[in-house]
Amino acid sequence: MDAISVIRTKRDRGELTPEQIDWVIDAYTRGEVAHEQMSSLAMAIFLNGMNRREIARWTAAMIASGERMDFSSLTRPTADKHSTGGVGDKITLPLAPLVAACGAAVPQLSGRGLGHTGGTLDKLEAIPGWRAALSNDEMLDVLRTVGSVICAAGDGLAPADKKLYALRDVTGTVESIPLIASSIMSKKIAEGTGSLVLDVKVGSGAFMKNLDDARELASTMVGLGTDHGVRTVALLTDMATPLGRTAGNALEVRESVEVLAGGGPSDVVDLTLALAREMLDAAGLKDADPAKALADGSAMDHWRRMIAAQGGDPDAALPVAREQHTVTAAATGTLATLDAYAVGLAAWRLGAGRARKEDPVQAGAGIELHAKPGDRVTAGQPLLTLHTDTPEKFAYALEALDGGVEIGPADAAFTARPVVLERIA
Ligand code: URA
Repeated sequence: MDAISVIRTKRDRGELTPEQIDWVIDAYTRGEVAHEQMSSLAMAIFLNGMNRREIARWTAAMIASGERMDFSSLTRPTADKHSTGGVGDKITLPLAPLVAACGAAVPQLSGRGLGHTGGTLDKLEAIPGWRAALSNDEMLDVLRTVGSVICAAGDGLAPADKKLYALRDVTGTVESIPLIASSIMSKKIAEGTGSLVLDVKVGSGAFMKNLDDARELASTMVGLGTDHGVRTVALLTDMATPLGRTAGNALEVRESVEVLAGGGPSDVVDLTLALAREMLDAAGLKDADPAKALADGSAMDHWRRMIAAQGGDPDAALPVAREQHTVTAAATGTLATLDAYAVGLAAWRLGAGRARKEDPVQAGAGIELHAKPGDRVTAGQPLLTLHTDTPEKFAYALEALDGGVEIGPADAAFTARPVVLERIA
C-alpha cells in the first residue's frame, strides 16, 4: 500500500477500498504518510466526496486510531450533545448541568473556537480557576459526583482526527460533509456515550449554509451513530443570526448563568430545553422535566458544583474588556438582518477567537446585541456594543459588520424563523 495510489484513486473519483482507508489513517497517525500527502487526499475527498461505505470505514479507522472510553461503571444513563458550531452558541453551558439535574450523566468533551465560531472551552476558561484538561479518572470522578463534566478530549481519543482536523483547518478542507461527519462521530463514538443529540447548525454563521447540505450531514451522522450502537438524533437549528444576545467568551458565560437562573433570551432557553428533552428521551428518561429543573434552581445547583469540581469559582466576577464601542441604529424601522457570520467575524476580530490553535483569546472580548431581527428600532438607539482589550481592533471589527446589519421599513412584514427547523432520527 502506498499514499500515492490512495490519492490517485480518490483524485480519479474511485471508491477507496476498506484496506486503503485503514492503511492511510493508520499510516498518517504514525507519521508514515506525510502531511502534504494527506492534505492532497483531503482535497480529493473534499472535491469528489465519499459514499456511505467509505465514510463508515473512515470513521471506524479514526476510532481505531486511539483509545475508547468506558462509562459502564456509571449508574446513570449517558447522554451527550454535539453542535456543529455557530455564533453565540453557548448552549452546552446551561444544557450539561440541566440534563444532569434531570438524572442523566453528561460527558461533554468539547473543543476550542477556531475562525468565527466560538468554542465551549474558551468560554468556560473565562471563569477564574476553571480547568479544561482533566485526566480520564478525574473526568469519571466529576461525572460520578456531579453528573456532568465539560472538558477537553484527551490526546488518546481519535488521534487521527486531531491531526487531520488541524491539517484541514489550514488547507481549506473543513467544509466537507464526509470529513465533518467522520470527524465528529469518531470522537463521539470513541468517547463511549450511550446516546447523542446532534445540533446541526444551518445558515450564514454555520459550516452548512443551506438546509439540503445540513440534512445530508445530519443523516450521515445519525447513520454512523446508529451503526455503532449509539442512539443518535439530530436537530437542524437556525444559525442565520446569532443565538441569544451575546457572542464572546465571558459575555456568553454571563448569559448562560442568566438562563440557569430562570431568565435569559427566549431563543437560548427554547433551544436548551429542546435539546435537553431530546437527550433525556434518548437516555430513556422520558418523565424528566427540564423546564422544572431550570425553574426550581436544581440546574443552577449542578452548574455551581460542576464549575467548582473543575477548580472554578462560580461566584467570581467575570472578566470585562477594557474598552467598549456602541453601534447605534442608522434609521428608525424594523431590524431586518443581523447576520451571524458578520457578528462572529467581528467578535473574532475583537479578540474573542483565535487565528491559530496556539493563539490566546481575550476573555472579555465580544459583542452584545441590544436588538434581534424583527425588533422595532429607533434611529440613534444602541444596536450593538463591541468589547475588546485592544481598541485598535474596533475599525477592523466594524468593517466585518458592514452589510450584516440591515434596518427595513417599520411596517415591513417580518416572519421569525423558528430556532429548531427539523428533526432527523
Ligand atoms: N467539528 C469537528 O469536530 N470536526 C469537524 O470537521 C467540524 C466541526
